[in-house]
Amino acid sequence: MLTVHTVAELRQQLAAWRAVGERIAFAPTMGNLHAGHIDLIHAAKTHAPRVVASVFVNPLQFGPKEDFGRYPRTLPDDQQKLAAAGCDLLFAPGVEEMYPHGLPLTTEVKVSKVSEGLEGEFRPGHFEGVATVVNVLFNLVQPDVALFGEKDWQQLAVITRMVRDLHLPIGIIGVPTRRETSGLAMSSRNQYLAVDERHTASVIHATLVTIAHEIQQGSRDYIGLEQAGMQALSAHGFAPQYVAIRTPDLQPPANENKNLVILIAALLGNTRLIDNLRVSLG
Ligand code: PAF
Repeated sequence: MLTVHTVAELRQQLAAWRAVGERIAFAPTMGNLHAGHIDLIHAAKTHAPRVVASVFVNPLQFGPKEDFGRYPRTLPDDQQKLAAAGCDLLFAPGVEEMYPHGLPLTTEVKVSKVSEGLEGEFRPGHFEGVATVVNVLFNLVQPDVALFGEKDWQQLAVITRMVRDLHLPIGIIGVPTRRETSGLAMSSRNQYLAVDERHTASVIHATLVTIAHEIQQGSRDYIGLEQAGMQALSAHGFAPQYVAIRTPDLQPPANENKNLVILIAALLGNTRLIDNLRVSLG
């Protein structure tokens, strides 16, 4: 696997592949890779002969009180994992390479509606930062397909909508969440958890499963189920931010909706965790 740090080197390598008509699959990441990220690479390989990954901790998507400074940066380890998974090219730019004209940017991408509420409420500006960097990365890599983890369900919805609205010729593919045996969704932020917190963190998935079961058993009192979920999380020591039952495109569900997604965000100590679970009825 080749690692490049500049736009010029990236473009040079991509041009060589395009010249011989090779399709490109792209997995953007912020590094500190775990098995969930590696699933993106494995999925990418089923879509195109050339797989490109990026590792870039994007300052635009972190709020002023968030963990940009302490977000784990583990490039040598990430390189090893990507190479072992069969990634062909890693783009690992610095902030100056990505944003050479300085911050704040004058051009931003905002995907309204789907960015509002849930993560958008608790992380103002987050999705503008994500949509902007993903757009910049898409312009640089110009992939045929791009892969994103379903753990960040709203992010996947925002990017899918952005690609549709801007007519970007890129197929967006969601990759299922990888979990620990406890049910805890894999996340780079899990390493902020103390040992006892890591044990408690699995209650998020358990709460999702309980709500899904209630819905499958016929409950349609979505507000009551959301409230019960909030209480269950509080009882285990979380500070829950939301428990929400939505359609896959994040609209409030009506009784006839057969496909739903349950989404949770909660703080455990200082660590913010998110997860979701889809429910299919009938
Ligand atoms: O999901 C992530 O890791 C990031 O939000 C992404 C898509 C790489 C953009 O920085």
